Amino acid sequence: MSDTLLMGRRILLVIGGGIAAYKSLELIRRLKERGASVRAILTSAGEHFVTPLSVSSLTGDKVYTDLFSLTDEAEMGHIELSRDADLLVVAPATADLMAKMAHGLANDLASTALLATDKKVLVAPAMNVRMWLHPATQRNFETLLADGVDVVGPNEGDMACGEYGPGRMAEPAEILAAIESHFAELAFPGGGPLKGKRILITSGPTHEPIDPVRYLANRSSGKQGYAIAQAVARLGAETVLVSGPTNLPNPPGVTVKRVETAREMLAACEAALPADIAICAAAVADWRVASDAEQKLKKQPGEQAPALMLVENPDILATLSQLKMNRPALVIGFAAETEKVIDHAVAKRQRKGCDWIVANDVSPATGVMGGDLNTVHLISREGQEDWPLLPKQAVAERLARRIADHFSTSKAAE
Ligand code: CTP
Repeated sequence: MSDTLLMGRRILLVIGGGIAAYKSLELIRRLKERGASVRAILTSAGEHFVTPLSVSSLTGDKVYTDLFSLTDEAEMGHIELSRDADLLVVAPATADLMAKMAHGLANDLASTALLATDKKVLVAPAMNVRMWLHPATQRNFETLLADGVDVVGPNEGDMACGEYGPGRMAEPAEILAAIESHFAELAFPGGGPLKGKRILITSGPTHEPIDPVRYLANRSSGKQGYAIAQAVARLGAETVLVSGPTNLPNPPGVTVKRVETAREMLAACEAALPADIAICAAAVADWRVASDAEQKLKKQPGEQAPALMLVENPDILATLSQLKMNRPALVIGFAAETEKVIDHAVAKRQRKGCDWIVANDVSPATGVMGGDLNTVHLISREGQEDWPLLPKQAVAERLARRIADHFSTSKAAE
């Protein structure tokens, strides 16, 4: 398995005519970052929302727009376009495109390529809420599901047209996750190497209240923990993600428990036991305010600023590592350090009692905190592995694979 599931995969992206088309540009970027090659068909309605030039700049290829272009037919006809792809993705999938697909119409390049394909098709519907809820669209949707088309979204929320409800296109990250899940299922048809394992993961920051409107927090985005949850779930693990407040969508196939404070996070972890593996990637606040105020603290003219009295929070990693009953067989912590990364991480592993520590340098110059890249060192009782600078997604996939290898080696040694 390569570090990313998408390396070398060929995606044919059909961009329909919807306001959400701009999100497809971001999707192309993310697919390319992960090593996929992307060809795009832009419908004539789609051209009203994004330009062929912006699409082709991102795909690094020409944009396919016209069914009847003789040159295209000679070089790369519609049959060839769909045959050449590993997966077809329709985003945004408008009501019109979905209707064409459901009825087998083929009156432009997009619908013809979609009809001519024998590959999996993933659609990301995007339309006005009334159009989505209309019985005709719902009928077409049912038909597409029955035809074996995969669907991601639509999400509920404020719409560009000013209405509220289901119809917003899934975010690029969600579409990407659905694409990766498709390739993961191809790679592991009977379930992945972590099938039968239950994995508990903590992620994100915690928010520790000062009063009803203020809190102590940190800069953690939760990206690394979410990526790990997704990666282990893809390898077949039953995955529970206990997350502090983040802006990230729930990874597919993962049970997500959202919490705010360190104490809530610990309680949610304990409730999720027993687990075979625990991965503590959360940036848990070390301290909380000793007694948070029930009412908003007010400024009093002439009075000094209030002093916050802090008390220590429970250490979730140490608690899980030192459990007498139900201790997960493999407990993994993270050590985000700004200096002497290895020394601190080695000491942290011993102090907390976990099996592995994933250490990384988060000094401001690295840009790691909240960013997309990470350089990590995996420290265990046996020694240290230095991993190269990798996207957080690739770190997650490598860690997931490393865990799977660990269990297959220990099973072999039994
Ligand atoms: N951790 C935890 N609960 C806490 C503090 C930390 O579970 N209350 C976990 C983190 O999820 C991470 C590991 O412990 O896996 C190390 O976190 P880090 O913040 O680097 O360590 P600290 O214990 O806070 O030590 P220090 O801040 O002194 O470096």
